[in-house]
Amino acid sequence: MDRIRIVGGRRLNGTIPISGAKNATLPLMIASLLTDETLILDNVPRLADVGLLEQILGNHGVDIMVSGKRAGETADHGQTLHISAASIVDTTAPYELVSKMRASFWVLAPLLARMGTARVSLPGGCAIGTRPVDLLIMAMQQLGAEVDIDGGYVVARAPHGLRGGGIVFPKVTVGGTHTAIMAASLARGTTVIDNAAREPEIADVAECLNKMGARIAGAGTSRIVIEGVIKLHGARHAVLPDRIETGTYAMAVAMAGGDIVLQNARPELLQAAIDVLGQAAVSVTPTNQGIRVARNGGSLAPVEVTTAPFPEFPTDLQAQLMALMTRAHGTSHIVETVFENRFMHVQELARLGARIQLDGERATIEGVAQLKGAPVMATDLRASVSLIIAGLAAEGETIVNRVYHLDRGFERLEDKLGRCGAAIERLSG
Ligand code: UD1
Repeated sequence: MDRIRIVGGRRLNGTIPISGAKNATLPLMIASLLTDETLILDNVPRLADVGLLEQILGNHGVDIMVSGKRAGETADHGQTLHISAASIVDTTAPYELVSKMRASFWVLAPLLARMGTARVSLPGGCAIGTRPVDLLIMAMQQLGAEVDIDGGYVVARAPHGLRGGGIVFPKVTVGGTHTAIMAASLARGTTVIDNAAREPEIADVAECLNKMGARIAGAGTSRIVIEGVIKLHGARHAVLPDRIETGTYAMAVAMAGGDIVLQNARPELLQAAIDVLGQAAVSVTPTNQGIRVARNGGSLAPVEVTTAPFPEFPTDLQAQLMALMTRAHGTSHIVETVFENRFMHVQELARLGARIQLDGERATIEGVAQLKGAPVMATDLRASVSLIIAGLAAEGETIVNRVYHLDRGFERLEDKLGRCGAAIERLSG
């Protein structure tokens, strides 16, 4: 299993290219199941989760072709995928595949909408809490599906097709909103989704679906209205930049010190995080290339942050912010309201000398003058990158084990940081 070795204390200077968003790419790839024509996706990041989803879609009969590099393109350019679900050969998504990546459960919606039936394994446990799918099932039922649980599988049927309906989510759910939109796009009549997730990735997927012939209005707000259509067609769409990768590298620079341009980043996708960095005395300025982040010499100020659905501070940046605040001049508080049990990084940060106390969903972080390198273990995607951030500022050597979590969501991380002056390398095997 690969590990990453970091020697802390180097400042970061230069440019970091921001990749296409993982959390838009996955539902966009899944949306290809809604049409028998080809969906072309540009700016797709090279991530383990994308490869895994290619495998899962392949199992349903989807063909995926990756375009070769064009002249002048480097590894900084995203991939182009040509995805064709001309015929769906299997409407079952098996446990062996779905259990590896939760978002693959979302195939339920397009399979049901297009084929009238789907059998998808329940995703099972996950390192960041229980993460149920009850609201996704409720949404399918509101659109007329009959749903049973059988042998660990969700079996959904709509032999005469789905019909539009009203869906009111009692809790904001990204996956629930994606699946409701996809299913409603091919349902008969109008669907109104209330308390929809407003994440930018929802709007990006809806924009692509509209290019495919869907009639979706209001994506990006909490009320989305969808007029169902009989058929969707092929389209071409470029994935929006990854706001979580952007925020992660912004915090890495804030931690290590230095001056970096995050190329292709879009500030409006992470305004809450930019505001928090401002409160921490980090300089963040939009440029015509992206976002410039700098900290030169000054100390970090502590912050009070509560995670919540977009446009609030994202749970996917909570671990990274906590790593940063371990070096603040004073005491910070971070409250995690989106997921239970999303604090596994705390014990690992403590191994580097961080002082963090947990009380339910609230963490109190007392800044320390210095972290000290140590071997640590990554437990999930965002937790693992928080250990990298801590390692950038820790004295001596930090080894982050179980790097496969990082590879699920960060493209060439050691390369991007290494080119800006970090002492970071991958140790294979
Ligand atoms: C997505 C993101 C993930 C991010 C999360 C919250 C992708 C691929 N993943 O995950 O990176 O951390 O949004 O921003 O986009 N819930 C229920 N019942 C359900 C569904 C969800 O109770 O049926 C709860 C969850 O347990 C959680 C909350 O709703 O407490 C939000 O989860 P949700 O927005 O659905 O997360 P995901 O879509 O799985």
